[in-house]
Amino acid sequence: MTNTPPVCDYEGSDYQASFWDKGGREYEDRTEAIALKRLVPPRGRLLLELGAGAGRNTTRYTGFDRVALLDYSRTQLEQAQERLGRSDRYIYVAADVYRLPFVDGLFDAATMIRVLHHMADAPKALGQVKNALRANGVFILEFANKLNLKAILRYWLGKQAWNPFTLEPVEFVKLNFDFHPKAVRNWLMELGFCIEKTLTLSHFRMGLLKRIIPISVLVFFDSILQWTGEWVQVTPSVFVKAKLVGRDGIPPFGQDGILSYFKCPDCGQRPLVDKKEFLECGNCKKKWGVKDGIYDFRESIK
Ligand SMILES: C[S@@+](CC[C@H](N)C(=O)[O-])C[C@H]1O[C@@H](n2cnc3c(N)ncnc32)[C@H](O)[C@@H]1O
Repeated sequence: MTNTPPVCDYEGSDYQASFWDKGGREYEDRTEAIALKRLVPPRGRLLLELGAGAGRNTTRYTGFDRVALLDYSRTQLEQAQERLGRSDRYIYVAADVYRLPFVDGLFDAATMIRVLHHMADAPKALGQVKNALRANGVFILEFANKLNLKAILRYWLGKQAWNPFTLEPVEFVKLNFDFHPKAVRNWLMELGFCIEKTLTLSHFRMGLLKRIIPISVLVFFDSILQWTGEWVQVTPSVFVKAKLVGRDGIPPFGQDGILSYFKCPDCGQRPLVDKKEFLECGNCKKKWGVKDGIYDFRESIK
């Protein structure tokens, strides 16, 4: 087992139902749908959705032939399966973002929405995304912004100890982090990404506004203001579209079956050997479970 940062575990959580379906988050969901429409490439072969949860956003990646939904929580993936069904179009993978089980350079695009805020070591997680993307692959990243207006005001009024203007992440609740936009940009650029677009979201994320103004009106004005993210980012949520320009040309991966996508997350060996109920690593002999349509790379089985 490799040494990786702790995981914020959603196993058994009713996050989709309590936060989205019954949580009064229509405004946030609709503004995210608009941002994804603006940022996700219209066509592609393979897309990796990191921390896919119950697949809330997955149907928004319509132009891609296949989507790999990766999440640490198996129960989240089961909910996604219920929503999306089982077909060759969707590959369900239980794994840790810090130990991706995919061969290098596999994906044309990757998305990570509402997940970076659980990363105690964000640069390490972003490095894994880089490895999984092909040259010129596109990465759509959402992150929670510590430099948001509310945090700035609270800091100036002396109601908040941490400084929103400094670059280090702030852990406001255990394993929940807000990031400075400049820090995220720096990490991405150091990894060889070029930032193509930045959108700001949730300009009107306030209970009172959501109660007194029709959601469609808020969504309309948010959708216009999203573009101001190119110049200033003081909203709670920021979306970035980055292209991986600085990586050596790994040849595009072949058209083989799904099995050829995987490598052993512990030793990197590929391909894995298909033993029906598990995939076996020919090098370290670890066995990775396959059950009810979900590939499980969290812990090897005995
Ligand atoms: C806030 S939810 C977001 C789900 C989905 N992206 C959405 O926006 O609806 C965060 C998800 O990230 C997953 N997650 C957190 N840490 C992870 C890790 N280290 N590896 C894989 N998934 C992780 C959780 O299991 C959870 O499903």
